[in-house]
Amino acid sequence: MRKKIIAGNWKMNKNLEEGMALASEVVNMVKDEYQGSAEVVLIPPFTHISAVSKIISDASNVFSGAQNCSNHASGAYTGEISTEMLKSAGASYIIIGHSERRQYFGEHNDWLAKKVDAVLGSGLNPIYCCGETLEERESNVHFGVLETQIKEGLFHLNESQIAQVVIAYEPVWAIGTGKTASTAQAQEVHAFLRNLISNQFGSNIANNITIQYGGSVKADNAKELFSAPDIDGALVGGAALQSRSFVDIIKAMA
Ligand code: PGA
Repeated sequence: MRKKIIAGNWKMNKNLEEGMALASEVVNMVKDEYQGSAEVVLIPPFTHISAVSKIISDASNVFSGAQNCSNHASGAYTGEISTEMLKSAGASYIIIGHSERRQYFGEHNDWLAKKVDAVLGSGLNPIYCCGETLEERESNVHFGVLETQIKEGLFHLNESQIAQVVIAYEPVWAIGTGKTASTAQAQEVHAFLRNLISNQFGSNIANNITIQYGGSVKADNAKELFSAPDIDGALVGGAALQSRSFVDIIKAMA
């Protein structure tokens, strides 16, 4: 059975105090209200990871993560943060190649492949993001774009490495816009991605890899999205900034 994972990407929101309050609320509500099998991942800004990790440490189904990392292990890279630092702060997952990193910070697939290696080298799990822009979807080149993102970012891995990877499909046109991909659109892409993994790594690995959907996931569309056979959870932005809306999304996953 593949893992279901609901992750909340806080992006550049919440000061430390607010972040700690949000993490405590989520942990308590998950304890009280959620009997399902999904893993929950809180992904705050770097400065909060250590505190959030302590808050969630008693909950067996809640983990913490980071939004980015350096591809270097250590050294003279001012302003960068290594995977070992994130691990020592308590992170289990690291988002790699979020569309905002690709778009605003020029992160390309070859660089992201190195970041994936760094995450795996520290024994952590990358959440590798892929997704097409509106223009790419409208000109019907989205499958090619997604294939290139997956091939260049992940196909150099071996079988035991790819088994540690989570994929997040996040159509850029659905992120923060209130426009969600329809369940049929998302399912079509998720099946396509799983097939790519199957062709490269075999059906066993493909059947076990977690593929999250991201892009304006809310409590009222989560249940339908999660009913699709190839959608194994969500990477949530805006709706993860409030405990009630985030926990309602978690509860939509059986
Ligand atoms: P959103 O963000 O839920 O606010 O659309 C998703 C993401 O960027 O991970």
